Amino acid sequence: ALVSMTGMLQKAVEGKYAVGQFNINNLEFTQAILLAAQEEQSPVILGVSEGAAKYMGGFKFVVGMVKNLMQEYNITVPVAIHLDHGSSFANCVKAIHAGFTSVMIDGSHHPLDENIALTKKVVEVARILGVSVEAELGRIGGQEDDLSVDEADAMYAIPAECDRLVRETGVDCFAPALGSVHGPYKGEPKLGFDRMEEVMKLTGVPLVLHGGTGIPTHDIQRAISLGTAKINVNTENQLASAATVRKVLAEKPDLYDPRKYLGPARDAIKETVKGKIREFGSNGKA
Ligand code: G3H
Ligand code: ZN
Repeated sequence: ALVSMTGMLQKAVEGKYAVGQFNINNLEFTQAILLAAQEEQSPVILGVSEGAAKYMGGFKFVVGMVKNLMQEYNITVPVAIHLDHGSSFANCVKAIHAGFTSVMIDGSHHPLDENIALTKKVVEVARILGVSVEAELGRIGGQEDDLSVDEADAMYAIPAECDRLVRETGVDCFAPALGSVHGPYKGEPKLGFDRMEEVMKLTGVPLVLHGGTGIPTHDIQRAISLGTAKINVNTENQLASAATVRKVLAEKPDLYDPRKYLGPARDAIKETVKGKIREFGSNGKA
């Protein structure tokens, strides 16, 4: 069933596991993630960045594709369609209008007061329609789509500011930037666990960990134990998919039917997602 994130994240906090947000980039990603979640009997969040939505044909197309696949595959686990790093009030409203069940408003590049005002506006509209909202504070480093934050600009969120933002906006979940990075890590990630604990104590809302690719299992477990209930993964599936396409085409240089190389890529994404679901502990929690 298509649902918002609110219920699934509340259950995840109580059950001490995390729900994966897996970003979709095309049809094969969407198929793979839905099937992986169904087979693992796990709730799942389909992350859609503005760039990916545009690539696929717009918000309405994405919602139609997801709904049709869910019907075709008899998907019964809870599924949320979530705008990832929404960059403006207008884009959040457009996504909601198209049928997204959840949005992130990323006002992290604005000064705190502006971030709060912007996030508040989105929550006001989303509330009316039962759509969940995620906000961010601090700046997550690395590159995702058109969003690029270099190391010097990446910033750790300040717990007192997180408390203010969550209290004044009423968001359903919250992503404090605490050293995680979009894309592959250079060396081991250094996550700010002390601050994570403090932010959870102060805000009491489910926390979100962006840049889930390449975080070692012990850090994942520690984050979950401190209130992280949603973990975003994109690059890891992209790497699995690209490696498979490279391998298949290298082995069979005469191959040209896209189904013959995108099919195996889809299988690789599905296996990667199933592994993540088990690592996050959301299997059997649908
Ligand atoms: O918002 C999406 C994510 O934070 C994905 O990060 O590509 O490093 O897995 P990742
Ligand atoms: Zn992110």
